[in-house]
Amino acid sequence: MNRIGFVGLGNMGMPMSKGLMKDGYEVIGYDLNDKAMVAFHKAGGKIAKNTIELAKQSELVFTSLPSTKAAEAVYLGEDGLLEHCADTTTLVDTSTIAPEMNQKIAEAAKEKGIPFLAAPVSGGVVGAENQTLTVMVGGPKGVYEHVLPVLNVIGGNVFFVNEQIDSGTTVKLINNLLIGFYTAGVSEALHIANKKNIDLDYLFDMMNVSYGQSRIYDRNYNTFIAKNDYRPGFAMKLLLKDLGFAMEVADANELDLPISKALHELYTTVVDEEGYAEKDMAALYERVKLQSEQKEAAK
Ligand SMILES: NC(=O)c1ccc[n+]([C@@H]2O[C@H](COP(=O)([O-])OP(=O)(O)OC[C@H]3O[C@@H](n4cnc5c(N)ncnc54)[C@H](O)[C@@H]3O)[C@@H](O)[C@H]2O)c1
Repeated sequence: MNRIGFVGLGNMGMPMSKGLMKDGYEVIGYDLNDKAMVAFHKAGGKIAKNTIELAKQSELVFTSLPSTKAAEAVYLGEDGLLEHCADTTTLVDTSTIAPEMNQKIAEAAKEKGIPFLAAPVSGGVVGAENQTLTVMVGGPKGVYEHVLPVLNVIGGNVFFVNEQIDSGTTVKLINNLLIGFYTAGVSEALHIANKKNIDLDYLFDMMNVSYGQSRIYDRNYNTFIAKNDYRPGFAMKLLLKDLGFAMEVADANELDLPISKALHELYTTVVDEEGYAEKDMAALYERVKLQSEQKEAAK
């Protein structure tokens, strides 16, 4: 398994594929975005003209795609991976997409005898760059064991959840539901501190040795809020996508989750109506501040 294909060379796919190259794998990449292809080529990767060419040349293919629709096109489309790769090629989707699409792809892969895993990741761009991602894998255990040496290259913490294809996605959605909670909590808590003239750096130091500490507080504050720079990172629209999937799982299982529902509504408004889609999720703090200032000004 020396020749690896990588479809989707974005914020996550690019550093993941670079990590594979660093560890001596030959990586063949494809992305719809020409700029990403040029950057990938500069980093030492081989460019494929399309997914057909990539499928034919790879023994293992990873995908890192922004949406369920993109995954459907890349796996199930006419030019897609399942149509054009050999049954000796293993496919691993690291995107976070709708659990039903994990199942749809797995069924189509099974019909063609092509090994497939749904293996979403957590740890962000930094984790991808440092090859320390958490990888949450669902699918056949034998396939997992076969590709484990390569999964260990992209991730520092690789977990096999169970043989249900969407089990890794369920764990990932739980993770992102918690991220949504913490991000909203940090935003509102820091707003109180601001109002009460408490220095935010000093607050961080105090919370850092108290139970109010969290990895999301650390990330959102130190990397984004303290620098007043909200380039993603993890774009707010991607968090909303994952919260939407978590709510679909909740609805399908008739779970009553009032706080999660309120959070989903909040992020929907922020993304769809207030222009925060492309900003890092930490920008929710900016929005909380702005809304409160607008309310005060209207008094
Ligand atoms: N950014 C993060 O911190 C993070 C962390 C963990 C997981 N994820 C998940 O990883 C996935 C990718 O996230 P990202 O932040 O890298 O997104 P991104 O938008 O930066 O990258 C996605 C890339 O896929 C390409 N693409 C889209 N459709 C394509 C197609 N049909 N064929 C080829 N390329 C196509 C895009 O051009 C883009 O370069 C998402 O599912 C996201 O939820 C992201």
